[in-house]
Amino acid sequence: MSEAVANPADMTSDSDSGERPGQKLALYYFSAAMVLFAAQILFGLIIGLQYLYPDLLYNVLDFSVARMVHINAMIVWLLMGFIGCIYWLVEDEAGRDLVGAKLAFLNFWILSGAVTVVVLVYLFVQIGPGELRSIWLINEGREYIEAPRWADIGIVVCVLIFFYNVAATFMKGRWSGISGVLVLDLIALAALYLAGMHFTPNISVDQHWWWWVVHLWVEATWEVLVGCIMAWGLIRTLGANRRIVTTWLYIEVAMMFGSGILGLGHHYFWIGTPEYWLTIGGFFSALEPIPLVAMVVHAVYDAGRHGFKSTNHPALAWLIAHAFGNFFGAGVWGFMHTLPQINLYTHGTQWTASHGHLAFFGAYATIVIAVIYLAIQKARGDVWMSGDLPGNGWAWKWSLALLNIGVLGMTVALLISGYEQSFVERALEGSTWSAYFEAQQTPWFVQGMQWRMIFGWVTAAGLALLLWDLATIGRRETRPVQVLNAVPA
Ligand code: HEM
Ligand code: HEM
Ligand SMILES: [Fe+2]
Repeated sequence: MSEAVANPADMTSDSDSGERPGQKLALYYFSAAMVLFAAQILFGLIIGLQYLYPDLLYNVLDFSVARMVHINAMIVWLLMGFIGCIYWLVEDEAGRDLVGAKLAFLNFWILSGAVTVVVLVYLFVQIGPGELRSIWLINEGREYIEAPRWADIGIVVCVLIFFYNVAATFMKGRWSGISGVLVLDLIALAALYLAGMHFTPNISVDQHWWWWVVHLWVEATWEVLVGCIMAWGLIRTLGANRRIVTTWLYIEVAMMFGSGILGLGHHYFWIGTPEYWLTIGGFFSALEPIPLVAMVVHAVYDAGRHGFKSTNHPALAWLIAHAFGNFFGAGVWGFMHTLPQINLYTHGTQWTASHGHLAFFGAYATIVIAVIYLAIQKARGDVWMSGDLPGNGWAWKWSLALLNIGVLGMTVALLISGYEQSFVERALEGSTWSAYFEAQQTPWFVQGMQWRMIFGWVTAAGLALLLWDLATIGRRETRPVQVLNAVPA
């Protein structure tokens, strides 16, 4: 049999029928991730409304706190989603059950418990002095990774256990090109988290290290991680040729690290670091879209080569949404403001928020959702999930459309507000305090905020439908999973 076939025996045999411990655990992680996704959207709606009605929940749930929950929930649900993806694919790739499964389950409950405590503390404490005690117990004050120090240390321990599970499973099972890249990437990903725990009273030095986590995660290690998941996903959904996808993966990883690491400099323009970062950051970050183009070509090429015939239509559709979302959100929207000459005007405006939304959703939310569809398919007994679904698969199609249109609509609305803000606050009025407030009141800015809210509701509707679809798809299905035909290598 050609290597190009997604081995049907592999997908349906008894030994591989969803009973595996890692895959069971992955479903736990996916459920926790979806709960946090819903929390993210709920708090997003609140802060979006607070832009329009500044009195809303004032002194009850202030913007600063709700915003923190919005973005921290995002980071944690994406991390839990990734952990789920890896627990799901590790047994498949290694060809054996997870090593250390008991510890892994315990780890899940500890991590989930800690996340719950951290969020409750955020919500109930809200304000107070910033001192050593609050850094340890309440909030570390670093955007996106605000968790207090005790939780930080706990997260490091949980990640080490996770790493042990994954690496040991590959060591005792079989290795592949994908798993080799994955394991090396996980080491880098975990090590970078330490950079966000470094405490210094000098704000420039503090920001310097903090960006290592934020930027080197999303533009280097997370990109490589989703590259691995994508490679595996294309083999699973399309029966893509392993040699070809692995070669693509190596090329993308080389380019991603090439541009991503020094591209970090685009966050060093205005924080008090030496001036050479203007040149280094501008140049290397402008190269960052190149591997993202390669990823789109790769995904579309593979899907086209197999005539879009897949074992799982919703998963394939979300994988393709990922390829485009990553390219536009990170590549195009990132490129727009990455040169220092432009960033001087756009830095920290709604322009940034526009990019942040499209990039995080497009590059990361999408691919986690794709793997959840693959997991659900197997959990429901390896059922049919190709074309011809009941009702023509309206629920997955509508949730895909609503979520993508919602986020894209918010992105465009924020871009218009951001354009107006850069123009009035920076270009015309020269970045004064009063210029900031003037820009916030211009009609284009305000209308952008209103449109963001309208599309925010569309996004929320898409999420509600997605959760419903995930809970129900395939339950009444009796046909077995589609078997793919051999495609010449
Ligand atoms: C999937 C990958 C990416 C994600 C998730 C992402 C996300 C973000 C987020 C959330 C911010 C705001 C950070 C903050 O100040 O709070 C940001 C800033 C920025 N990103 Fe990205 N980004 C990605 C890739 C890229 C790429 C490839 C480029 C360049 C080509 C880029 C260029 C920028 C720039 C220049 C800023 C600073 C904006 C400012 O000065 O306010 N990003 N990114
Ligand atoms: C109902 C939908 C949503 C609404 C109404 C919403 C609203 C908001 C608001 C008001 C902010 C604060 C912006 C500021 O500080 O000026 C924000 C920040 C942010 N949101 Fe959302 N959001 C939504 C969904 C999402 C989704 C789906 C994602 C990604 C998966 C996301 C990622 C982010 C990020 C990364 C930031 C920080 C951006 C930055 O610092 O520039 N949001 N959101
Ligand atoms: Fe960056």
